[in-house]
Amino acid sequence: MGSEEPIIVFKSKVTTYVMACWILAAFGGLMFGYDIGISGGVSGMDDFLIKFFPRVHERKMHANENNYCKYDDQLLQLFTSSLYLAALIASFFASRACTVLGRRLTILMASTFFILGACFSAAASVLWMLILGRILFGIGVGFGNEAVPLFLTEVAPAQHRGAVNILFQLFVTIGIFIANLINYGTSTIHPHGWRISLGMAAVPAALLLVGSLIITETPSSLVERGHEDKGKSALKRIRGVDDVDAEFRQIVVACEQARQVKKPFQKLFKRSGIPPLTVAICIQIFQQLTGINAIMFYAPVLFQTLGFKSDASLLSSVITGLVNVGSTFVSIYAVDKIGRRKLLLEACVQMIISQMAIGTILLTHLKDQGSLDKVLAAVVVCLVCTYVMGFAWSWGPMGWLIPSEIFPVETRTAGFAFAVSSNMLFTFIIAQAFLSMMCHMRAFIFYFFSAWILVMGIFVVFLVPETKGVPIDMVEERVWKQHPVWKKFFDDDNKTKSHQMT
Ligand code: BGC
Repeated sequence: MGSEEPIIVFKSKVTTYVMACWILAAFGGLMFGYDIGISGGVSGMDDFLIKFFPRVHERKMHANENNYCKYDDQLLQLFTSSLYLAALIASFFASRACTVLGRRLTILMASTFFILGACFSAAASVLWMLILGRILFGIGVGFGNEAVPLFLTEVAPAQHRGAVNILFQLFVTIGIFIANLINYGTSTIHPHGWRISLGMAAVPAALLLVGSLIITETPSSLVERGHEDKGKSALKRIRGVDDVDAEFRQIVVACEQARQVKKPFQKLFKRSGIPPLTVAICIQIFQQLTGINAIMFYAPVLFQTLGFKSDASLLSSVITGLVNVGSTFVSIYAVDKIGRRKLLLEACVQMIISQMAIGTILLTHLKDQGSLDKVLAAVVVCLVCTYVMGFAWSWGPMGWLIPSEIFPVETRTAGFAFAVSSNMLFTFIIAQAFLSMMCHMRAFIFYFFSAWILVMGIFVVFLVPETKGVPIDMVEERVWKQHPVWKKFFDDDNKTKSHQMT
């Protein structure tokens, strides 16, 4: 079902400058990951709860409270999830900014919003300041998550595009891990430890800000905005060679077609826009329906539910954080060799087995009161690790990679905005609903996520094309128009072509 034609390789060298661009831009992932990792820990800290959510704190203190329900509080969940609502809306503005101002300036704006968010959150004395901080963080994430994966995909040589794009996800996982460590340290600093946790979000954002001043704009974005000469020199810089004519010609042709499209959002809903739009949106929604953020946001809370003490549960989430980082390297290594589809499918099997086993252990051994015995609790931690492993080398990175490489340049920023916002919407829904779902569904929640993983596996088998090694501006010709299901959406195009040839 992949592209059977030979891979076209344009000349390129990996210079220090090129690597610096990849890494500096990937700091956007650090910013996103830091926030994912910090929220859960902060919302488990007593000082924080007493100040902003006294009711939840009181409930937490009741030792006899139902295991599955002690953290169920809509306001507390809003603390975590409001960011994603803001990011959802911001990603559409970010799409416009990416097209009109370029990827680089959009990255700069992202880091600025995030720094402001860190200031408000760290200084918060009342709930509205805290929420405002979350909204500013959210705008930062919306702008960063739109611009950074696109930037990485556009500057990467086709044969390494998967690996370069996954640097974003690698930094997401490092961000989550660092945040877990920081929470582990600040949870013992009373009463303002949580302020340090939230305020330190400014550090990855400041790194991204500096990065955005050093990196080059992408050739596609420059040519798209009419700066052909600058586009060519940018391409020479990021390829590390002078002979870039063949690749440059391809970018110019793609951008010329793009310029004729005045309304990219309308083109996206035309027949030929449907295949990439469907795949991009579904991949992102499914990424969230794996249930990953139930673990990422609420790992400390979840482990406390299993009967770990506060410290031990933070430590367990540090372990899962480390597994998350380590397994992402597998993906960096494998994605351009074995391809996107095989990684996605293998992980579906691994994640279903892990989740079903967790669900079954909790169902049979964790009652509403009391806790799991030590051995079983350790088994659950191991199963969480195999689950996270599977996610980290598949749906995690592919969620950002595939949507960034399957649109033609004229609909790329608009299409990708739909992908980002679908991710944010479903992250919001899971963040907002998970604690209540756990309270109502109890251990069945793990079966619920497994069922979704089965659905997404079937989706991959029939509808996700392989994009390994295909130059980004040839994806429509070489991937969509050849796909057994999706090629029907290009019938008109294909007919016109065969007429021209006869
Ligand atoms: C997802 C996040 C998730 C993270 C975990 C990212 O790709 O978008 O929602 O928390 O991976 O590593």
